Amino acid sequence: MHDKKILVKCTTDLQTIFKKSIFAKKLVMVSEKDFISTDFASIEKGSFQWSSPSNIALVKYWGKKENQIPANPSISFTLNNCKTITKLDFSKKETNDTFSFDLLFEGKPKEDFKPKIQKFFERIEKYCPYLKQYHFTIDTENTFPHSSGIASSASGMAALSMNIMSLEKALNPTITDDFFYQKASFLARLGSGSACRSIKGNVVVWGKHDEILTSSDLFGVEFPSQLHENFHNYQDTILLVDKGEKQVSSTVGHDLMHNHPYASTRFEQAHTNLSALKKVLENGNLDEFIKIVESEALTLHAMMMTSMPYFILMKPNTLEIINKIWKFRNQTNIPICFTLDAGANVHVLYPENVSETVLQFIQDELVGYCQNGNYICDIIGNGSQLM
Ligand code: PMV
Repeated sequence: MHDKKILVKCTTDLQTIFKKSIFAKKLVMVSEKDFISTDFASIEKGSFQWSSPSNIALVKYWGKKENQIPANPSISFTLNNCKTITKLDFSKKETNDTFSFDLLFEGKPKEDFKPKIQKFFERIEKYCPYLKQYHFTIDTENTFPHSSGIASSASGMAALSMNIMSLEKALNPTITDDFFYQKASFLARLGSGSACRSIKGNVVVWGKHDEILTSSDLFGVEFPSQLHENFHNYQDTILLVDKGEKQVSSTVGHDLMHNHPYASTRFEQAHTNLSALKKVLENGNLDEFIKIVESEALTLHAMMMTSMPYFILMKPNTLEIINKIWKFRNQTNIPICFTLDAGANVHVLYPENVSETVLQFIQDELVGYCQNGNYICDIIGNGSQLM
C-alpha cells in the first residue's frame, strides 16, 4: 500500500514537472509506465457518457512501429459535428477473470463490433487493471451516417477512452486533469492510432517532433502555439464520394510501409512538413497552408499506390473534385484546398469568411460527384465533451 502511494505521488510529481517543463524548455519524458494505474478504490456501479469528435490530419500518419507507435509525427484539426457519443454503464461483478461487456450500437446489440473492443481491453488492461472487476454496457452512436465512409474508429475509440478515464477518476479522485486527458489520449492511441488526436484541443500533434517540445509518440498534445486567427472556425466540408467499405484497411496500409521503397524519405518529409506547417499555423499564410496540406494528401495516396501490393483508394470522382477545386481557386483566388484520408471522400478546407461563396460553389459544381449528393458541413472544434 505504502509503495502504491509513492507510485501515485511520483506520477503526480511527474505530471507537474512535465507541465512546468513546457515553460522551462527542459523536457521530462513521460513513459508508458507512468500510465499504469495502481491506486484505486471500489465503486459498485455507475454510468458516464462522452462525445468525441473525428479529426482530419493535415500532416498524415501512415506507417507505424510496434504498440501503435507512429513512424512519423502528424497534426490534425479536430472536427466539431462528426462525433461518436458513447455511454458506459458499469457494475461490479463477482469474479474478475475475464472481460465482460455488452455492446450496443444505436441501442441495439452489435456482435460484430465486439472483437475490436475485446482486443482494445486486452491492450489497455496493463494500464487499467480494474477493468475485469466490472461488467460494462457500452452504448454507442455516431452523428454521421454509419455507411458514409467516414471512419468512426477515431471518434469511437476516443469516446470509449474518455469513459474509461471517468471511471478511473471515480476510482482514484487524486488524478490531475492533465493526467486524465493525457492518459485518455494514450489509451485511445492503443485502440486506433489517430484516435489519440480526438481528445482535447482544436489542433493536435501526435508523434515526437523536435520543434514541439511537449510532443510524444505515446499521446496527442494540443498545438502549443497561438493559432492564427485565419484558422479560427476553419471549415471542413466533407464530400461523400464513396460510402462503400474500403478495399484495404488502414491496418494493412500502415503495415505496407514496412519495406516500402520510399518509407524513410516519406517519414523525414513529414517532419519537415510539420515544421513548415507549425509556422503557417502561427503566421496565417494560407498559400503555404494549401501547398503543404494538398501535398500531404497526395503523398499519402502516393504511398498506397507505390506499396507492394499497391492499391488505389481514390475514385474517379475524387479526381474530378480535386480538378474543380484547383480551377475554382485559380479563377477566384479564394484560398480553398482539399485533403483526403484513407478513402475516396474529399475534405474541402476553407476559412470562415469565404464560406458563403464556397458553399455555393460546392452546391453548383461538386455535389454532382457525391454519392446521392451527400456531404457534411463541419468546422474545427475543441475535442471530447462529458455529457
Ligand atoms: O488511426 P488509423 O490507424 O485509422 O490511421 C489513420 C490514417 C490516416 O487517416 C490516413 C491519416 C491520419 O493521420 O489520420
